[in-house]
Amino acid sequence: MFTNMEMIHILASFRYLNMLSDEYIDGYITTIPRIGIGTSIDFEALHTGSAIADSQNRQNALDKMRLNIRHAIKKGYRHFDTAVLYQTSHILAEEINMSGIDRGNFFVTIKYQNTPVSYEVDAKEFKGYIDLALLHSPPLSDDPRTFQKEFIREWGKYDGLKKNKFARDVGISNFYPTQVRLAFEAISEYNLSHEEKMCFPFANQLEINVMYQAYDDVEICKEYGMTLIAHTSLKSLCEEKISSKIKKISNQLKPNKCSPAQLIIAWLLSRGIKVVIGSKNNEHLSENLKSTEFVSSISASVKAEIQKLSVERPLAQISITSMDYDKSLEKKLQQKISHGNV
Ligand SMILES: NC(=O)c1ccc[n+]([C@@H]2O[C@H](COP(=O)([O-])OP(=O)(O)OC[C@H]3O[C@@H](n4cnc5c(N)ncnc54)[C@H](OP(=O)(O)O)[C@@H]3O)[C@@H](O)[C@H]2O)c1
Repeated sequence: MFTNMEMIHILASFRYLNMLSDEYIDGYITTIPRIGIGTSIDFEALHTGSAIADSQNRQNALDKMRLNIRHAIKKGYRHFDTAVLYQTSHILAEEINMSGIDRGNFFVTIKYQNTPVSYEVDAKEFKGYIDLALLHSPPLSDDPRTFQKEFIREWGKYDGLKKNKFARDVGISNFYPTQVRLAFEAISEYNLSHEEKMCFPFANQLEINVMYQAYDDVEICKEYGMTLIAHTSLKSLCEEKISSKIKKISNQLKPNKCSPAQLIIAWLLSRGIKVVIGSKNNEHLSENLKSTEFVSSISASVKAEIQKLSVERPLAQISITSMDYDKSLEKKLQQKISHGNV
């Protein structure tokens, strides 16, 4: 007889074998397409300023995003990432439904802040289901037991989404290794039904870029059979010092004419990580999609060059609503676990 955790690991290894390519079963895409598009819009346009400026800014930002989604669909993107926080899911649904392309070809991820209250409406808008519903951020507690209790309280709702077929799969976002481990242990140890125990996170969406390279995160996701999806991957291009070094490395890949953005995306793909990228620029949309052509050029020496650029800094905090997560919380959890406080 297997323990709950052993069952999770057996199922996880099957899932891991399955996740690296884009597959269709019965007309539905079953794995996450390797390069996806993010639909977050400028937080300032959504949340600040005077009421009139807000509504104008918000409308402009949404109109731009609509066009952006339309172009991305035409160019062949099929994975779209949205969140309740972004307020873009309705335009994404409209653009997918108007595209003339079968819904089964799209993979839609929606992130919910804790309780997924709008899931029924969202599922209806996306012709009956969401492909992947993610818990947008981990519980903010730095106490391991409280973290687990809070996680289980939220996770039950995600299990319900899957059971009721509103979501084809469910997962987590912004969980660092200690938080992933605590979450899986909670699912396996807490007094849940067999069905609930077998509903464990399918993916973790996390900030991964040249500065935060997430080697431990890749390992823990392999261990639990989770697909790792990188967000904010091109952030390092805004850091002048790092961006010039990235440019140098991408120049080495010539004569293939690899751009810095393509280098970063290809490097992530070569590590088995999927990506969601934000771009409002038509040329960038095409360029990014072509990154797959460079995956085979990411040699061990290129990887080693990129590894040198890693800066294990605390991640950017998103201090909007209650979502204020960063790596230091994980460190505090880790310290309490090492002191036997779990
Ligand atoms: N789970 C979470 O908590 C979380 C947090 C943040 C983001 N996300 C997801 O990740 C998505 C992407 O995040 P993001 O947009 O903040 O970061 P990003 O994808 O790392 O960066 C977007 C920036 O990169 C530029 N860019 C794109 N392609 C380029 C290219 N080929 N060459 C040069 N520059 C290029 C874009 O400019 P142009 O517009 O000019 O192309 C834009 O300024 C979001 O939309 C969201 O869906 C999730």
